[in-house]
Amino acid sequence: MRIFSGIRPSGELHIGNYLGAIKQWIELQEKEECVFCIADLHATTTPYQPNQLSKAVFATAVTYISAGLDPEKCILFVQSKVKEHTELTWLLGTITPVGDLKRMTQFKEKSKEHPQYVNAGLLNYPLLMASDILLYQTDLVPVGKDQSQHVELTREIARRFNKKFGETFKIPKVLLSKGEKIMSLKNPTKKMSKTDNPQTYIGLFDKPEAIKKKIYSAKTDSEKEIKFDVKRKPGISNLLAIYSLFSGFPIKEIEKEFKEKGYQVFKEKLAQLLIEKLEPFRRKKKELELHPDYLEKVLEDGRKRAQAIAQQTMEKVRKKMGLF
Ligand code: TYM
Repeated sequence: MRIFSGIRPSGELHIGNYLGAIKQWIELQEKEECVFCIADLHATTTPYQPNQLSKAVFATAVTYISAGLDPEKCILFVQSKVKEHTELTWLLGTITPVGDLKRMTQFKEKSKEHPQYVNAGLLNYPLLMASDILLYQTDLVPVGKDQSQHVELTREIARRFNKKFGETFKIPKVLLSKGEKIMSLKNPTKKMSKTDNPQTYIGLFDKPEAIKKKIYSAKTDSEKEIKFDVKRKPGISNLLAIYSLFSGFPIKEIEKEFKEKGYQVFKEKLAQLLIEKLEPFRRKKKELELHPDYLEKVLEDGRKRAQAIAQQTMEKVRKKMGLF
């Protein structure tokens, strides 16, 4: 089975990105053929600093490997380095109704967030994502819940293409993880997001002091009971989910363990758990940053391997569309 996924280098990666996406990728690389990209072209659809982008790409590559991706077991590459992605984006645009793109939740949200920057690239964002996925004849796309609508649209586009021009693309499926939607620490009814204030998320390289501070001040409620109830107690439920995903213990067991112990004790234990689990990431990052040429080699090697697959698909697509 072939797996494809990616992350936009638009900010520090946090435990939501890890639990929603990367943690699954690490498990999948052991048994499936995995391709993971750093989606730098997607990062240009919202305001960004051109002189910071390549640093952000590098930082994302460091994060992928520090968190456990192994370039010996999967292909890691930078999206903009494989030109087939932009070529296919154009072609898929010619068979996609504008209405399908306009109804995407992320387009509506980002348009509201950046009213001065509602560009055609933001509207076409899902076409680029569909190209990423379809170029690699992907079976499964492991993402968090916020991206599943884009994968659904990718399936529709692939079906439409196959019907119009003949069998070309595999129809991919979305693969959601148990941590499909981790919420903001300050507003637990909103998803944790890397473009928000850093106090709302735990960065994968946060130092122990920062982790403690953020967890201790995470929003909960005025009750005492540690119980998973998303509607009534979204804050404590989010913390319980994080605890469960990092420790591997079921939520019911954690509720039992902390019965009548109060929020403070629970938060102290959660902070300790996160400090312990994230410590190896910080250690690996330090090591990697001393070897920038290793990273360059990994990405160049990944580009070659990714491009070889992408080229095969593009040849088929061009033929089917009469562009040869
Ligand atoms: P991005 O960069 O916004 O997010 C990267 C991954 O992290 C997941 N995620 C979360 N999961 C759980 N809880 C959260 N609070 C949370 N926040 C983010 C996202 O669902 C995603 O899996 N367009 C994509 C990147 C992309 C891509 C692709 C993904 C580009 N091409 C092809 C799959 C296939 C994005 O912006 O993700």
